[in-house]
Amino acid sequence: MNTAIYPGSFDPPTNGHRDIIERASRIFDKVIVCIMENTKKKPLFSMEERLKMLQSLARKYSNVEVDYYRGLLVDYARLKNAAIVVKGLRGMGDFEYELQMALVNHQLAPDVETMFLMTSYRYSYLSSSIVKEIAYLGGDIKDLVPPEVHSVICEKIARLKEDGN
Ligand SMILES: Nc1ncnc2c1ncn2[C@@H]1O[C@H](COP(=O)(O)OP(=O)(O)OP(=O)(O)O)[C@@H](O)[C@H]1O
Ligand SMILES: [Mg+2]
Repeated sequence: MNTAIYPGSFDPPTNGHRDIIERASRIFDKVIVCIMENTKKKPLFSMEERLKMLQSLARKYSNVEVDYYRGLLVDYARLKNAAIVVKGLRGMGDFEYELQMALVNHQLAPDVETMFLMTSYRYSYLSSSIVKEIAYLGGDIKDLVPPEVHSVICEKIARLKEDGN
């Protein structure tokens, strides 16, 4: 059985993430979407909120699980007996970063391969940051995020604005 780990910060999940999850679930026997703690980013949504959102949108894929991990991705992959890490690529910005990550992870764990799925054209502009920015500025994010998580995101941003943040 081939298991792929799909790591990210998912702060919050977007239609771009959902698209990668769905496509990966058709390729691999099992996909584990794993929220990784990124020491360089300060997330808006708590780990628990992100877990709940991902679980609600992953429910319809029978071979997709959701988890979180604080540590090295390759250690998590080994823990789960997974030989594949799957990532999405939107453009050269992603490529430069992902090339470095794939090479360093291969150095740390030669038995773990990183595989890339090209973004779907219609989601190529989409990131968690842009979704947060649009929502914060009062724009409509309905077509940018999965319906299962839309209200959670809007409520969180509304609360933030009320608190003056
Ligand atoms: N629209 C998209 N199309 C294809 N892949 C995507 C898309 N959005 C994110 N990904 C991929 O999903 C993985 C996790 O991404 P991450 O959680 O960092 O989201 P992000 O949208 O890049 O967030 P941020 O704006 O915080 O950088 C990465 O491999 C990233 O390339
Ligand atoms: Mg990013």
